[in-house]
Amino acid sequence: SFNLRNRSLLDLEDFEPRDIRFLLDLSAELKRTKYVGNEHQRLKGKNIALVFEKASTRTRCAFEVAVHDQGGHVTYIDPAGSQLGHKESLKDTARVLGRMYDGIEYRGFHQSVVEELARFSHVPVWNGLTDEAHPTQILADLLTMEEFGQQPLHQMSFCYLGDARFNMGCSLLVGGVQMGMDVRIAAPEALRPPEELVARMRALAQRTGARVTIESEPRLAVSGADFLYTDVWVSMGEPQEVWKDRIDQLLPYQVNSDLLAATGNPRTRFMHCLPALHNLDTEVGRWVHEQFGLRELEVTDEVFESDASIVFTQAENRMHTIKAVLVATLG
Ligand code: CP
Ligand code: NVA
Repeated sequence: SFNLRNRSLLDLEDFEPRDIRFLLDLSAELKRTKYVGNEHQRLKGKNIALVFEKASTRTRCAFEVAVHDQGGHVTYIDPAGSQLGHKESLKDTARVLGRMYDGIEYRGFHQSVVEELARFSHVPVWNGLTDEAHPTQILADLLTMEEFGQQPLHQMSFCYLGDARFNMGCSLLVGGVQMGMDVRIAAPEALRPPEELVARMRALAQRTGARVTIESEPRLAVSGADFLYTDVWVSMGEPQEVWKDRIDQLLPYQVNSDLLAATGNPRTRFMHCLPALHNLDTEVGRWVHEQFGLRELEVTDEVFESDASIVFTQAENRMHTIKAVLVATLG
């Protein structure tokens, strides 16, 4: 038997497929017990630090509600509200937090930071998004695919379209391969996951029965897909200047009703980790509209608001899956 107690979640690759299976089953169970009102609190007396060097709505709220539901306490540390990186080294901050808290959530830039935090704090650290990985998001996505899918995960396919070099493209590739799925990535050559990661995932696919397809032509990539998944074209931490090139590169990969129809599968669902630029009714959206005259970016409003869209269940499932990670590693 195995257990995840005292483990960190820095990257999905740290976990075995059976660990992910365990976390998804625990998530479903915790979701059910919350819905029926008999949740058993397993984080009583636990203190958890939530450190954010980038903005967040879902991840922060998911951690706060999950810990509260389980009887624990959180401290939220915002990008400007600590000495971290300004007046105090990461190594020192890690040792301080590790003396006070039972676990630390961290969102920031490089993966090396979350690794160092885990090394020096000596308490479990959970990656709440880095440039390279977004493991807790993928747990929510896999749970959502199971809930809406017609088959078990290993009999289903998804296609991620967009910038696949970054956290979402890379972590979806890992999670999909771990669960034995038919994983497609539709992206131009310049925006594909790092070659070493792709090679590792092709090797792992031999073991899990997964399929990995990386394709430039979006209409080929989506054929038959059970889920189409996209993300913002410019991620947190990237400069505004990249928008122009990114739009040129990614406009053919926009998820619109034509592309949804091109799957040939009437049950294809649309997924997005959010936040999404689907109607440009945001500060960034208005700026993009002024600069480039576009009305919609990675997904059209029509698809986003359609019955095919399951994005808000994904968002809700962030909370249930993060709760499972906390209970499994600390409870
Ligand atoms: N999907 C996600 O991580 O959202 P936030 O940036 O709002 O946390
Ligand atoms: N790729 C996006 C994901 C946001 C949840 C970003 O890093 O900004």
